[in-house]
Amino acid sequence: MFPTHRPRRLRSHPQLRRMVRETVVSTNDLIYPLFAVPGEGVAEEVKSMPGVYQLSIDKIVEEAKEVYDLGIPSIILFGIPDTKDTEATGAWHDCGIVQKATTAVKEAVPDLIVTVDTCLCEYTDHGHCGYLEVGDLSGRVLNDPTLELLKKTAVSQAQAGADIIAPSGMMDGFVTAIREGLDAAGFTNIPIMSYAAKYASAYYGPFRDAADSAPQFGDRRTYQMDPSNSREALKEIALDIDEGADMLMVKPALAYMDIIRQVKDATDLPVAAYNVSGEYSMVKAAALNGWIDEQKVVLETMTSFKRSGADLILTYHAKDVARWLDKVN
Ligand code: PBG
Ligand code: ZN
Repeated sequence: MFPTHRPRRLRSHPQLRRMVRETVVSTNDLIYPLFAVPGEGVAEEVKSMPGVYQLSIDKIVEEAKEVYDLGIPSIILFGIPDTKDTEATGAWHDCGIVQKATTAVKEAVPDLIVTVDTCLCEYTDHGHCGYLEVGDLSGRVLNDPTLELLKKTAVSQAQAGADIIAPSGMMDGFVTAIREGLDAAGFTNIPIMSYAAKYASAYYGPFRDAADSAPQFGDRRTYQMDPSNSREALKEIALDIDEGADMLMVKPALAYMDIIRQVKDATDLPVAAYNVSGEYSMVKAAALNGWIDEQKVVLETMTSFKRSGADLILTYHAKDVARWLDKVN
């Protein structure tokens, strides 16, 4: 009798398929990004990201409640300050936008985990992720002085009530610096989710509209990784583990699933994948044109992130995913 092997047997009935399913996406895996702006009653849709808004703190709180009610365990906060300067004052000031938003959310929804992005690019007048040499037009961020600012930023975020610190600037030694800062300030229990393998990617374009954080000159290639490299990602991962990171992130996700898999195999720490702005915008654009089935494409993509090794997924689709999972499961 030919064929001897008939894998289709196990695909013949929906219940059988459920029984042998290897990967399941859960609402537990999701982290929803939010952008805080000054003001009140502000909900300004980001042009390149339909369905994503810059929100004033009162609206962030409303959104946080909705996210929590959907069963999503965490948000990640980004801030757009009133004013920017060379010291990134808005990033580390007690009254910074993220600090205020964090405190407001923790007060209103204490059980929602508030993750905060710890970087300086939204707060520097030149849009780079740290200090520049005076007159530098290349964007070659000064590493060690920047660590001091990151440390200050993380401590002020923790003081405001943040539950997870997520440094994203790809500075050498940033996990050590932030861990030292947090521990010295008494926050020994606050975990660090390091953007450990973050690539210099064109997929961040729409985010830079949302966060108003595009570099005014130069690019980020002297600190973010070259998309051609994967062994270097493993080096970055090993360093961050050594420095005391509690969770590791790979970013972007879609074009880097090989990296997610390699990182997963190289560590026993939880691995997060950042499904970034450009990935979201492409799907949204096609969906709005009626060219793809948004729900199916998004759920398939989420499943693929998990299959490739992601434990957690940061995604602008999170609220939709939570609603859809409720129905399909
Ligand atoms: C800040 C930061 C960026 C993103 C997250 N944190 C942008 C950048 O590095 O330019 C990108 C997120 C996205 O595209 O959704 N360093
Ligand atoms: Zn940055």
